[in-house]
Amino acid sequence: MNIILLGPPGAGKGTQAKVLQEHYHVGQIATGDMLRAEVKAGTKLGMAAKSIMEAGALVPDDLIIDMLAHRLSKPDCRHGFILDGFPRTVPQAEALDAMLAEQKQDLRAVILLKVDEDVLIERIAGRFSCAQCGAGYHETFQPTAKAGVCDKCGSTEFVHRPDDNPVTVKQRFTAYNQQTAPIVPYYQARNIYYEVDGMADLDDVSNAIEAVLRKVGVPAQVAEDAG
Ligand code: AP5
Repeated sequence: MNIILLGPPGAGKGTQAKVLQEHYHVGQIATGDMLRAEVKAGTKLGMAAKSIMEAGALVPDDLIIDMLAHRLSKPDCRHGFILDGFPRTVPQAEALDAMLAEQKQDLRAVILLKVDEDVLIERIAGRFSCAQCGAGYHETFQPTAKAGVCDKCGSTEFVHRPDDNPVTVKQRFTAYNQQTAPIVPYYQARNIYYEVDGMADLDDVSNAIEAVLRKVGVPAQVAEDAG
């Protein structure tokens, strides 16, 4: 099962990709998370990406495509992957098609999470994550079970993303509308494009995505040793 979750900043791509990854045991590939790890590690790619991400712009296609090609070769992608944050431009979508064709694979579904802009802003403003394990939360919509303590690892340290400030968020919306939205017609022209109401509650969005996956023939549960 190779699927793409599309949507503007804050639509819930990362949240839903993690739910799907736990359920289907395939690779979860979040290019934003990968870039943040590169920035933290101070690699050449991270140094090139840092100021671009802080400005809310897109990292150049050639850098991202190389990073993705390397990631797709990892063992956890052997039986499929969920892409969150890639592709973000038509050249990235074309490069993905070429990589899949080379491996004689295809895309099962491209799912757009539709969310109004005022809700996106509210979601991004309240988002935070655990500084230790990276688990994601929201002050209102997805709080920790015990205030100030991570549900997953018990840490009491949390962080906000540097690009979640209002000025950068505005630039990220512009980048989405100008550079990423044009990939919707690219996929609409094929029979693999679906839209889901991303405004619904977290569980309802997960159920709607899983309904799409059943419709396209993905088994209800992929075996646990499937990669
Ligand atoms: P990236 O990290 O991919 O950011 P993004 O696309 O802007 O998406 P977000 O992570 O902000 O949102 P999300 O949709 O994952 O929402 P989430 O699930 O967290 O990219 C960052 C930067 O990296 C880019 O700006 C760019 O510079 C660079 N980059 C990355 N990929 C690139 C590429 N391919 N090409 C070029 N550059 C690239 O949810 C948000 C909040 O809402 C959470 O707190 C969550 O708890 C809450 N929430 C989620 N769903 C619901 C719901 N249904 N109801 C209520 N609350 C919800």
